[in-house]
Amino acid sequence: MDVFVVEGGRRLDGSIRIFGAKNAALPLMTAALLTDQPVTFRDVPRLDDVDNMMRLLAELGCHRVNEADGPSGKIVLHAGDRTRSHARYDIVRTMRASISVLGPMLARRGEARVSMPGGCTIGDRPVDLHLRGLRALGADIQLAHGDIIARAPGGRLKGARLFLGGTFGPTVLGTANILCAATLARGETVIESAACEPEIVDLAALLTRMGAKIEGAGSPRIIVQGVESLGGAEHTVMPDRIEAGTFMCAAAITNGDIVLENCPADALMCVMDRLEAVGVRFEVTGNDPLRARCRVTSSRVLQPVEVTTQPHPGFPTDLQAQLMALLTLADGNSVITEKIFPDRFLHVAELARMGARLHRQGATVVISGVRRLVGAPVMASDLRASAGLVLAGLAAEGTTIVNRVYHIDRGYEQFETRLASLGARIVRRDEKDVQ
Ligand code: EPZ
Repeated sequence: MDVFVVEGGRRLDGSIRIFGAKNAALPLMTAALLTDQPVTFRDVPRLDDVDNMMRLLAELGCHRVNEADGPSGKIVLHAGDRTRSHARYDIVRTMRASISVLGPMLARRGEARVSMPGGCTIGDRPVDLHLRGLRALGADIQLAHGDIIARAPGGRLKGARLFLGGTFGPTVLGTANILCAATLARGETVIESAACEPEIVDLAALLTRMGAKIEGAGSPRIIVQGVESLGGAEHTVMPDRIEAGTFMCAAAITNGDIVLENCPADALMCVMDRLEAVGVRFEVTGNDPLRARCRVTSSRVLQPVEVTTQPHPGFPTDLQAQLMALLTLADGNSVITEKIFPDRFLHVAELARMGARLHRQGATVVISGVRRLVGAPVMASDLRASAGLVLAGLAAEGTTIVNRVYHIDRGYEQFETRLASLGARIVRRDEKDVQ
């Protein structure tokens, strides 16, 4: 297995381009199941999760046209074959986002069989809200041998008014599933307590180009008028706000001075507000606030802050670990409360190995700032925790070995080479070579 070897102490400097968003690309790609026409995607990030989604879609009869790797991550998907509708466990278990094929398949084919996604290191990953929403649209849902077996009586779903909120607020992929399913349902669908994430807005933009009739995407209430069929379209995946936020924290933790091109600043208002409170400074220019040029610098002394993760437009849970890494070096006590995935703290023990002073009480962690971190071997656990450990390594004195970087390869394209292009001393090695 690969590891990252990070030599801390270098200030980041230079500019990089933010790539297309993993969490937009995955549900976007499933929309190709809603039509028998080709759908073209640009700025698709080259990630393991994207490869897994393409493998899953191919098993469901949705093939990639012109395999040659097009410019800027261009992918053309064509769901010409509707005979196979079973998303098997061996793929679904590797990627929770596989559940996103359920709604589109049910809407277009009238049936679907999707393995229940397992849990993961950030906690249980239930799908009860997905199933509640699809049942509200008239689907008959059975669970058998670990699979979700879904059917639309008469072959077509019926529009409905449904509440999609759960104990922890809205569901992002649940909203994507129900939104896709509703586009081909008979009649009107009202989704109350829909997720407001920018990735849902991006999905609605593609569906609208395909002929769907959608109002309110980005708000808690989305209204869909079902149509008879959808056509092909072209779409450029929105820039990755979590990747951009990660690089913002990287600049701040090294007291660097970097420029992010294609930066979705408009989707990061809460994150930038909180980072400004820490002492990070931003200069945002450009005509499109979702594809801006953003210069990031920071004061040498970082201020402590209190942050609670929330559904969008609140502070995203996917940047919680990266912020925590930054706050380990703030001048005082910070508090982070995790409201989306209360167990999403596997990075706490690893940061403590590097000298961070962290005290967890349930879903809250108090971070007592220290003057320095010390490099150490650490273990990556989930995608974002791993990124947080790399950031800590960039600032730590000495060498940090981040193990199991396959987690990072799921969601960050060329992470180490792009950090190195900004001056970081980070290389990928086989773990056998660094014992
Ligand atoms: C998406 O996951 C993202 N993944 C996650 O990013 C992100 O952390 C999460 O949204 C929250 O923003 C993708 O978009 C591929 P949820 P999703 O359904 O949709 C509970 C990353 O690192 N819930 O919005 O699966 C759930 O347990 C990943 O890129 C139910 O109770 O998350 C959680 O507490 C990690 N029942 C909360 O809702 C359900 O049926 C939000 O989950 C569904 C969810």
